[in-house]
Amino acid sequence: STEEREISIGFSQSVGNDLWRVSMNHAMEVEASLHPHVNLTIYNAHHQAKKQILDIEKFIDNKVDVIIISPFESDSIVPVIEKAKASGIPVILIDRKASTTNYTTYIGADNIEVGRLAGKYVAASSKGNATVVEIKGDHTTSPGVERSEGFKQIISKYPGIKVHTVGSVDSEYPKAEFTRLLDSLQNIDYVFCYNDVIAYNAWKTAKSKGLGNKLKFIGVDGLNGPFGGIQLVKEGVLSATILYPTGGSEAIKLALKIVYNEIVPKKNKLSTTIIDSLNADIMSNQFDRIAIQQSNIEEQQNIIKSKGKDYATQNNLLKLLFAL
Ligand code: FRU
Repeated sequence: STEEREISIGFSQSVGNDLWRVSMNHAMEVEASLHPHVNLTIYNAHHQAKKQILDIEKFIDNKVDVIIISPFESDSIVPVIEKAKASGIPVILIDRKASTTNYTTYIGADNIEVGRLAGKYVAASSKGNATVVEIKGDHTTSPGVERSEGFKQIISKYPGIKVHTVGSVDSEYPKAEFTRLLDSLQNIDYVFCYNDVIAYNAWKTAKSKGLGNKLKFIGVDGLNGPFGGIQLVKEGVLSATILYPTGGSEAIKLALKIVYNEIVPKKNKLSTTIIDSLNADIMSNQFDRIAIQQSNIEEQQNIIKSKGKDYATQNNLLKLLFAL
Protein backbone atom coordinates (compact mmCIF):
# COMPACT_ATOMS: atom_id res chain seq x y z
CA SER A 1 0.00 0.00 0.00
CA THR A 2 1.00 3.64 -0.32
CA GLU A 3 1.34 3.78 3.46
CA GLU A 4 4.35 1.51 3.36
CA ARG A 5 6.25 2.54 0.30
CA GLU A 6 9.30 4.76 0.70
CA ILE A 7 8.55 8.41 0.06
CA SER A 8 11.35 10.73 -0.94
CA ILE A 9 11.04 14.45 -0.32
CA GLY A 10 13.65 16.87 -1.61
CA PHE A 11 13.95 20.28 -0.02
CA SER A 12 15.90 23.03 -1.75
CA GLN A 13 16.90 25.62 0.84
CA SER A 14 17.98 28.96 -0.55
CA VAL A 15 19.92 30.89 2.03
CA GLY A 16 22.78 29.64 4.19
CA ASN A 17 22.80 28.99 7.88
CA ASP A 18 21.12 31.85 9.69
CA LEU A 19 18.96 31.01 12.70
CA TRP A 20 15.70 31.20 10.79
CA ARG A 21 16.84 28.83 8.02
CA VAL A 22 18.37 26.39 10.52
CA SER A 23 15.13 26.33 12.45
CA MET A 24 13.13 25.73 9.24
CA ASN A 25 15.38 22.78 8.28
CA HIS A 26 15.14 21.42 11.80
CA ALA A 27 11.35 21.60 11.86
CA MET A 28 11.27 19.66 8.59
CA GLU A 29 13.67 17.02 9.91
CA VAL A 30 11.64 16.52 13.09
CA GLU A 31 8.38 16.20 11.16
CA ALA A 32 9.94 13.81 8.62
CA SER A 33 11.35 11.62 11.40
CA LEU A 34 7.81 11.02 12.63
CA HIS A 35 7.14 9.12 9.41
CA PRO A 36 9.67 6.27 9.22
CA HIS A 37 9.02 5.63 5.52
CA VAL A 38 9.84 9.25 4.59
CA ASN A 39 13.30 10.16 3.31
CA LEU A 40 14.01 13.88 3.46
CA THR A 41 17.03 15.26 1.60
CA ILE A 42 17.99 18.90 2.09
CA TYR A 43 20.25 20.74 -0.36
CA ASN A 44 21.38 24.22 0.59
CA ALA A 45 22.12 26.68 -2.22
CA HIS A 46 23.92 29.07 0.13
CA HIS A 47 22.69 32.27 -1.56
CA GLN A 48 23.51 31.06 -5.09
CA ALA A 49 20.65 31.15 -7.55
CA LYS A 50 22.57 28.90 -9.97
CA LYS A 51 23.35 26.29 -7.33
CA GLN A 52 19.69 26.20 -6.34
CA ILE A 53 18.70 25.38 -9.94
CA LEU A 54 21.28 22.54 -10.06
CA ASP A 55 20.05 21.23 -6.70
CA ILE A 56 16.47 21.08 -7.97
CA GLU A 57 17.60 19.43 -11.21
CA LYS A 58 19.24 16.72 -9.12
CA PHE A 59 15.93 16.13 -7.33
CA ILE A 60 14.20 15.88 -10.72
CA ASP A 61 16.80 13.40 -12.00
CA ASN A 62 16.43 11.33 -8.85
CA LYS A 63 12.65 11.28 -9.37
CA VAL A 64 11.78 12.29 -5.82
CA ASP A 65 8.08 12.22 -4.92
CA VAL A 66 7.79 15.89 -3.96
CA ILE A 67 10.10 18.90 -4.18
CA ILE A 68 9.86 21.67 -1.59
CA ILE A 69 11.52 24.92 -2.63
CA SER A 70 12.26 28.13 -0.77
CA PRO A 71 13.28 30.22 -3.80
CA PHE A 72 16.35 32.40 -3.46
CA GLU A 73 15.10 34.73 -6.20
CA SER A 74 11.58 35.03 -7.59
CA ASP A 75 12.48 35.14 -11.30
CA SER A 76 15.56 33.01 -12.03
CA ILE A 77 13.98 29.99 -10.35
CA VAL A 78 10.92 29.84 -12.64
CA PRO A 79 12.19 27.53 -15.46
CA VAL A 80 13.34 24.77 -13.10
CA ILE A 81 10.02 24.88 -11.19
CA GLU A 82 8.23 24.44 -14.49
CA LYS A 83 10.62 21.65 -15.46
CA ALA A 84 9.79 19.77 -12.24
CA LYS A 85 6.07 20.16 -12.81
CA ALA A 86 6.42 19.07 -16.44
CA SER A 87 8.17 15.89 -15.31
CA GLY A 88 5.23 15.15 -13.03
CA ILE A 89 6.79 16.06 -9.69
CA PRO A 90 4.61 18.20 -7.39
CA VAL A 91 6.29 21.41 -6.19
CA ILE A 92 5.67 23.08 -2.84
CA LEU A 93 6.91 26.66 -2.51
CA ILE A 94 7.69 27.81 1.00
CA ASP A 95 8.38 31.30 2.40
CA ARG A 96 9.48 33.06 -0.78
CA LYS A 97 7.35 33.12 -3.89
CA ALA A 98 8.30 32.59 -7.54
CA SER A 99 7.03 34.47 -10.59
CA THR A 100 4.92 31.61 -11.91
CA THR A 101 1.58 29.98 -11.10
CA ASN A 102 2.93 26.64 -12.28
CA TYR A 103 3.49 25.05 -8.85
CA THR A 104 1.33 22.79 -6.71
CA THR A 105 0.97 24.77 -3.52
CA TYR A 106 2.51 27.62 -1.53
CA ILE A 107 2.95 27.86 2.23
CA GLY A 108 4.04 30.88 4.23
CA ALA A 109 2.91 33.89 6.22
CA ASP A 110 1.60 36.92 4.34
CA ASN A 111 4.50 39.36 4.03
CA ILE A 112 2.22 42.27 3.09
CA GLU A 113 0.49 41.69 6.42
CA VAL A 114 3.90 41.54 8.14
CA GLY A 115 4.73 45.00 6.76
CA ARG A 116 1.30 46.33 7.66
CA LEU A 117 1.64 45.18 11.27
CA ALA A 118 4.95 47.03 11.53
CA GLY A 119 3.32 50.12 10.00
CA LYS A 120 0.41 49.97 12.42
CA TYR A 121 2.79 49.63 15.35
CA VAL A 122 4.69 52.76 14.30
CA ALA A 123 1.49 54.71 13.58
CA ALA A 124 -0.15 53.77 16.89
CA SER A 125 2.83 54.24 19.18
CA SER A 126 3.93 57.52 17.56
CA LYS A 127 0.38 58.87 17.31
CA GLY A 128 1.04 59.60 13.65
CA ASN A 129 4.16 61.74 14.00
CA ALA A 130 7.59 60.21 13.50
CA THR A 131 10.80 60.02 11.51
CA VAL A 132 11.44 56.47 10.37
CA VAL A 133 14.35 54.71 8.72
CA GLU A 134 13.37 51.61 6.81
CA ILE A 135 16.06 49.05 6.00
CA LYS A 136 14.48 47.09 3.18
CA GLY A 137 15.08 43.51 2.10
CA ASP A 138 16.40 42.51 -1.31
CA HIS A 139 14.14 43.59 -4.19
CA THR A 140 14.66 40.26 -5.99
CA THR A 141 12.80 38.37 -3.22
CA SER A 142 9.09 38.40 -2.45
CA PRO A 143 9.47 39.03 1.33
CA GLY A 144 11.83 41.92 0.56
CA VAL A 145 9.29 43.55 -1.75
CA GLU A 146 6.11 42.69 0.15
CA ARG A 147 7.17 43.68 3.67
CA SER A 148 8.12 47.10 2.39
CA GLU A 149 4.91 47.36 0.35
CA GLY A 150 2.70 46.53 3.37
CA PHE A 151 4.59 49.01 5.54
CA LYS A 152 4.08 51.75 2.92
CA GLN A 153 0.35 50.96 2.62
CA ILE A 154 -0.17 51.92 6.27
CA ILE A 155 2.42 54.68 6.69
CA SER A 156 1.26 56.59 3.60
CA LYS A 157 -2.00 57.33 5.41
CA TYR A 158 -0.09 59.41 7.98
CA PRO A 159 1.33 62.67 6.59
CA GLY A 160 3.18 63.21 9.88
CA ILE A 161 5.34 60.10 9.38
CA LYS A 162 8.45 60.56 7.20
CA VAL A 163 10.26 57.46 5.95
CA HIS A 164 13.88 57.30 4.73
CA THR A 165 14.63 54.06 2.98
CA VAL A 166 17.87 52.11 2.71
CA GLY A 167 18.06 49.03 0.48
CA SER A 168 19.93 45.83 1.23
CA VAL A 169 21.38 43.26 -1.15
CA ASP A 170 20.93 39.58 -0.34
CA SER A 171 19.57 40.73 3.04
CA GLU A 172 23.02 41.84 4.23
CA TYR A 173 23.00 44.61 6.81
CA PRO A 174 23.91 47.84 4.91
CA LYS A 175 26.11 49.29 7.63
CA ALA A 176 27.68 52.18 5.67
CA GLU A 177 24.34 53.51 4.39
CA PHE A 178 22.66 53.25 7.77
CA THR A 179 25.59 54.98 9.46
CA ARG A 180 25.32 57.82 6.93
CA LEU A 181 21.62 58.28 7.74
CA LEU A 182 22.32 58.21 11.49
CA ASP A 183 24.88 60.97 10.97
CA SER A 184 22.78 63.12 8.64
CA LEU A 185 19.26 62.87 10.08
CA GLN A 186 18.17 64.50 13.30
CA ASN A 187 15.62 62.81 15.51
CA ILE A 188 15.13 59.37 14.04
CA ASP A 189 12.38 57.73 16.09
CA TYR A 190 11.96 54.27 14.55
CA VAL A 191 14.06 51.88 12.50
CA PHE A 192 11.98 49.23 10.71
CA CYS A 193 14.19 46.40 9.47
CA TYR A 194 13.57 43.58 7.02
CA ASN A 195 14.49 41.02 9.69
CA ASP A 196 15.69 40.68 13.29
CA VAL A 197 19.31 40.03 12.30
CA ILE A 198 19.49 43.35 10.46
CA ALA A 199 17.63 45.07 13.32
CA TYR A 200 20.16 43.72 15.83
CA ASN A 201 23.09 44.92 13.71
CA ALA A 202 21.49 48.34 13.21
CA TRP A 203 20.94 48.60 16.97
CA LYS A 204 24.65 47.82 17.54
CA THR A 205 25.63 50.65 15.18
CA ALA A 206 23.26 53.07 16.92
CA LYS A 207 24.51 51.95 20.31
CA SER A 208 28.11 52.68 19.34
CA LYS A 209 26.98 56.26 18.70
CA GLY A 210 25.18 56.45 22.04
CA LEU A 211 21.75 56.19 20.35
CA GLY A 212 20.87 52.63 21.40
CA ASN A 213 18.07 53.63 23.76
CA LYS A 214 16.85 56.62 21.81
CA LEU A 215 15.71 54.81 18.67
CA LYS A 216 13.02 52.15 18.56
CA PHE A 217 13.95 49.11 16.47
CA ILE A 218 11.42 46.81 14.83
CA GLY A 219 12.41 43.53 13.21
CA VAL A 220 10.78 40.50 11.60
CA ASP A 221 10.99 36.73 12.34
CA GLY A 222 10.48 36.56 16.12
CA LEU A 223 12.47 33.37 16.69
CA ASN A 224 12.67 32.00 20.19
CA GLY A 225 15.97 31.32 21.97
CA PRO A 226 19.34 33.10 22.17
CA PHE A 227 19.66 35.97 19.65
CA GLY A 228 16.12 35.34 18.42
CA GLY A 229 13.79 38.30 18.05
CA ILE A 230 11.70 37.41 21.11
CA GLN A 231 14.80 37.44 23.30
CA LEU A 232 15.84 40.79 21.77
CA VAL A 233 12.44 42.25 22.64
CA LYS A 234 12.76 40.93 26.20
CA GLU A 235 16.19 42.54 26.50
CA GLY A 236 14.85 45.86 25.21
CA VAL A 237 17.07 45.82 22.11
CA LEU A 238 14.01 45.66 19.85
CA SER A 239 10.74 47.43 20.60
CA ALA A 240 8.88 44.86 18.55
CA THR A 241 9.26 42.03 16.10
CA ILE A 242 6.72 40.58 13.69
CA LEU A 243 6.40 36.81 13.94
CA TYR A 244 7.28 35.07 10.66
CA PRO A 245 6.92 31.31 11.22
CA THR A 246 9.13 29.04 9.10
CA GLY A 247 6.40 26.52 8.23
CA GLY A 248 8.92 23.67 8.13
CA SER A 249 6.77 20.98 9.72
CA GLU A 250 3.63 22.13 7.90
CA ALA A 251 5.45 21.81 4.57
CA ILE A 252 6.29 18.14 5.25
CA LYS A 253 2.66 17.48 6.21
CA LEU A 254 1.55 19.09 2.96
CA ALA A 255 4.03 16.98 0.99
CA LEU A 256 2.54 13.81 2.47
CA LYS A 257 -1.01 14.91 1.69
CA ILE A 258 0.00 15.47 -1.90
CA VAL A 259 1.66 12.03 -2.13
CA TYR A 260 -1.54 10.47 -0.74
CA ASN A 261 -3.58 12.32 -3.38
CA GLU A 262 -5.41 14.51 -0.93
CA ILE A 263 -6.57 17.83 -2.28
CA VAL A 264 -4.55 20.74 -0.90
CA PRO A 265 -5.33 24.44 -1.30
CA LYS A 266 -3.07 26.42 -3.63
CA LYS A 267 -2.21 28.79 -0.79
CA ASN A 268 -1.58 27.84 2.84
CA LYS A 269 -1.33 30.86 5.05
CA LEU A 270 0.67 30.77 8.28
CA SER A 271 -0.35 33.30 10.89
CA THR A 272 1.68 36.27 11.96
CA THR A 273 1.42 38.62 14.91
CA ILE A 274 3.23 41.47 16.58
CA ILE A 275 5.48 40.66 19.53
CA ASP A 276 6.41 43.50 21.89
CA SER A 277 7.21 43.86 25.58
CA LEU A 278 3.57 43.08 26.47
CA ASN A 279 3.47 39.55 25.09
CA ALA A 280 7.15 38.55 24.65
CA ASP A 281 7.13 36.43 27.83
CA ILE A 282 3.97 34.57 26.92
CA MET A 283 5.28 33.91 23.42
CA SER A 284 8.64 32.58 24.60
CA ASN A 285 6.96 30.33 27.19
CA GLN A 286 4.75 28.86 24.48
CA PHE A 287 7.66 28.29 22.12
CA ASP A 288 9.77 26.79 24.92
CA ARG A 289 7.04 24.24 25.53
CA ILE A 290 6.90 23.34 21.86
CA ALA A 291 10.69 23.00 21.79
CA ILE A 292 10.62 20.63 24.78
CA GLN A 293 7.97 18.51 23.07
CA GLN A 294 10.06 18.46 19.90
CA SER A 295 13.16 17.27 21.70
CA ASN A 296 11.14 14.60 23.51
CA ILE A 297 9.91 13.39 20.16
CA GLU A 298 13.45 13.35 18.77
CA GLU A 299 14.69 11.41 21.79
CA GLN A 300 11.97 8.81 21.34
CA GLN A 301 12.73 8.56 17.62
CA ASN A 302 16.40 7.95 18.42
CA ILE A 303 15.51 5.21 20.90
CA ILE A 304 13.27 3.56 18.35
CA LYS A 305 16.01 3.80 15.73
CA SER A 306 18.69 2.31 18.00
CA LYS A 307 16.30 -0.50 19.01
CA GLY A 308 15.78 -1.09 15.31
CA LYS A 309 19.52 -1.41 14.87
CA ASP A 310 19.80 -3.85 17.80
CA TYR A 311 17.05 -5.86 16.24
CA ALA A 312 18.81 -5.87 12.89
CA THR A 313 22.12 -7.06 14.37
CA GLN A 314 20.28 -9.79 16.30
CA ASN A 315 18.59 -10.85 13.13
CA ASN A 316 21.89 -11.02 11.29
CA LEU A 317 23.40 -13.02 14.14
CA LEU A 318 20.51 -15.49 13.97
CA LYS A 319 20.87 -15.80 10.21
CA LEU A 320 24.56 -16.46 10.70
CA LEU A 321 23.88 -19.14 13.32
CA PHE A 322 21.37 -20.85 11.10
CA ALA A 323 23.76 -20.80 8.20
CA LEU A 324 26.37 -22.65 10.25
C1 FRU B 1 16.35 34.16 6.56
C2 FRU B 1 15.41 35.23 6.10
C3 FRU B 1 14.50 35.61 7.21
C4 FRU B 1 13.32 36.08 6.46
C5 FRU B 1 13.25 35.08 5.36
C6 FRU B 1 12.54 35.60 4.18
O1 FRU B 1 17.19 33.70 5.58
O2 FRU B 1 16.12 36.33 5.59
O3 FRU B 1 15.03 36.55 8.07
O4 FRU B 1 12.19 36.18 7.22
O5 FRU B 1 14.57 34.75 5.06
O6 FRU B 1 12.71 34.82 3.07
